[in-house]
Amino acid sequence: MKVLLIGATGNMGVRLVPALLTHGHSVVAYVRSSDKLESLLPAAVYRRIIVFQGDATDSTKIKGAILDNNCDAVVNTAGLAALPPWGKSDLPLIFRSVVNAIRDASTERKKPLRSWFMGGMGVLYYPRSKTMLSKYIPIYLEHRQNLQLLKSLPPDTVDWSMLCPATMVPESSNFDVPTRNLHGELVAGAETLPAWQDSWVKHIPLMGRPILSAMNAGRYTTTLEQNAEFIAKDLESHASQWMGMTVGVFDGSK
Ligand SMILES: NC(=O)c1ccc[n+]([C@@H]2O[C@H](COP(=O)([O-])OP(=O)(O)OC[C@H]3O[C@@H](n4cnc5c(N)ncnc54)[C@H](OP(=O)(O)O)[C@@H]3O)[C@@H](O)[C@H]2O)c1
Repeated sequence: MKVLLIGATGNMGVRLVPALLTHGHSVVAYVRSSDKLESLLPAAVYRRIIVFQGDATDSTKIKGAILDNNCDAVVNTAGLAALPPWGKSDLPLIFRSVVNAIRDASTERKKPLRSWFMGGMGVLYYPRSKTMLSKYIPIYLEHRQNLQLLKSLPPDTVDWSMLCPATMVPESSNFDVPTRNLHGELVAGAETLPAWQDSWVKHIPLMGRPILSAMNAGRYTTTLEQNAEFIAKDLESHASQWMGMTVGVFDGSK
């Protein structure tokens, strides 16, 4: 696919560039500073991509980048959610602008664009329930309103998925192509976390679920490279099993 990657200079974005190329995609990187991206990537990798400068809050420019480059897919990694429940970041503004751009470009090309967005573990459901984990660990709450926006889209306007990792750590700062990841592929689950560890603790009145959620949270650390690989591999086909879903991930190789 030809992928518009928004936020290619970030932790996740810069790893998505080599991952996407390794999986045979073409990359159009949408960044605020091409100089910054050039300084991060090996010269041979930078030469293989198209770079488009713009702000992720500029919906018209993003739509133009999609249509001018004939992109089939968009991955948005721009913006970083605020950690405290009262925190405010640019992420909701960026998210809305990207969604609007994808929706308008999809209408114009008469075909929904395949799109991956970043969320967080908190928007996944506590196992076998419809209660979000962020009810029990109330951090990074901005992902909730972003998910709400995706769910409010009329069907067949954007073929979206939202990747919802817990903490992601770097494996390395080598961004060569092909990628050589140290960790194995992620195990994924729709709407909830795979490989949840249950415990009697959950039966403690009121505090049981929050305690069990906190006990589990640390087990879900993955690497940035694993998450980049997950998205790049999924984009090999437009017919993804994760369409219209939040996706929880677990490092089964640990
Ligand atoms: N890192 C984690 O452990 C983790 C875990 C779960 C979920 N997430 C979510 O995953 C996403 C990516 O995380 P990350 O760690 O890769 O974030 P990051 O390293 O902070 O990267 C953010 C990217 O957004 C870009 N950006 C910010 N404002 C922009 C704007 N107005 N226009 C264009 N680009 C803009 C930054 O560009 P500049 O270089 O120009 O500043 C940077 O490339 C976030 O939504 C985060 O909440 C992260």
